[in-house]
Amino acid sequence: MRLILCGPPGAGKGTQCKRIVDKYALTHLSSGDILRAERAAGTELGKKAQGYMDTGALVPDDVIIGMMIGAIKKAAGNYVLDGFPRTLPQAEGLDKALREAGEKVDAIVNLLVDDEVIEKRLTGRRSCPTCGAVYHIENLPPKVDGQCDKSCGQLVQRDDDKPDVVRNRLKTYHEQTEAVVGFYEAEGRSILNINADRDIDEVTTAVFAALNKIDG
Ligand code: AP5
Ligand code: MG
Repeated sequence: MRLILCGPPGAGKGTQCKRIVDKYALTHLSSGDILRAERAAGTELGKKAQGYMDTGALVPDDVIIGMMIGAIKKAAGNYVLDGFPRTLPQAEGLDKALREAGEKVDAIVNLLVDDEVIEKRLTGRRSCPTCGAVYHIENLPPKVDGQCDKSCGQLVQRDDDKPDVVRNRLKTYHEQTEAVVGFYEAEGRSILNINADRDIDEVTTAVFAALNKIDG
């Protein structure tokens, strides 16, 4: 199954992806996680991405498209894309690569949350830099304060979760990313709109119910 998970920053894409990949045996391809791993490893790509990510701007399309198409090829037709495509050129680049391979995305899951909810979610987020697990100090706390449940070690707060950067990320989302869903709508693709402004487990139930319909 080939899926795209869309939604604003803090909608719960990473949180829901972890559950989707466990249930449907898919590979989780998060452009943000891949970029953060490149930064942590000090690669050229990571250094190039750093300035954009720190201010809440988007990394240039050519860099992202090459990086994600490479990752998609390795995932052998079973994946969920998280945070990609995020601009119309990225959606077109993905479409072209899939068309050339005779493939297509099965569904686009679109998580809907208002901007006001997002700031609270992001300032309370804690992430595991080793396994990518996502927690929230109130909504989804780890068993031991500050420590990953999978014994990886210390949780961290992302640099781009500061309030002014969060506002910029939301602005970027509305200006450049929201149109991606319209692109797929115009192509007649299956868009699964999910109200993501409710309890994490309720969102998961709604996502699974929608996916089970397309999975047959
Ligand atoms: P990326 O890492 O993709 O960040 P994002 O899209 O801003 O999304 P987030 O990871 O912040 O949120 P999420 O939806 O995954 O929410 P989460 O599950 O963590 O991108 C970072 C940067 O990299 C970008 O700004 C850009 O610079 C660059 N980049 C990445 N991809 C790119 C691309 N394609 N093109 C160009 N540049 C790119 O949840 C958030 C918090 O809320 C957690 O604490 C969680 O526990 C909690 N939570 C989740 N669901 C609920 C719920 N239902 N109720 C209550 N709390 C909840
Ligand atoms: Mg994420």
